[in-house]
Amino acid sequence: MAVEKPDAVALLKADHRKVEELFEKFKHAESESEALVLEICTELSVHAMLEEEIFYPACQKAIDEADLVSEAYVEHDGAKVLIAELMDSDADNAFYDAKVMVLSEMIKHHVGEEEKSLFPQAQKAGLDMAALGAKMLARKEELVAKFAGGNLPPPETRSFTGHKLVQAKPLEAD
Ligand SMILES: [Fe+2]
Ligand SMILES: [Fe+2]
Repeated sequence: MAVEKPDAVALLKADHRKVEELFEKFKHAESESEALVLEICTELSVHAMLEEEIFYPACQKAIDEADLVSEAYVEHDGAKVLIAELMDSDADNAFYDAKVMVLSEMIKHHVGEEEKSLFPQAQKAGLDMAALGAKMLARKEELVAKFAGGNLPPPETRSFTGHKLVQAKPLEAD
């Protein structure tokens, strides 16, 4: 992205629009869906890392409703479970498309909260958006290069402390 003086909120919103476009593309894709899903998961992972490493900590210190940031971390971790699932399966998995659709709904809700509540509060609190934007842009370039060519590592959670999920045996058909 060729932005000379990136504003943090503008940069994050541009990522949101890009992911919305990719989800929309997925709905109409007849083939190559795995490549598209990898692109979606990579975009989301980079975006989540920028927010978690740089933007959210700054917000947490500056805004009155710090709970908003805690909820955002938990929502990210929820999405990471689906990202990990998708990265570990292929398009012929029975729940593949459903996982992508549920991920898109989770992200839609999360993005709505960021754009309606968190970002306006961060702006009101007078955070230095140009400095945060520059920092995020530099980190973004680093991460995009690192994850190029499908080299996406398993997501790291920040609020989930590790859970034991046990896969149930398939139900027997009558
Ligand atoms: Fe977020
Ligand atoms: Fe975001």
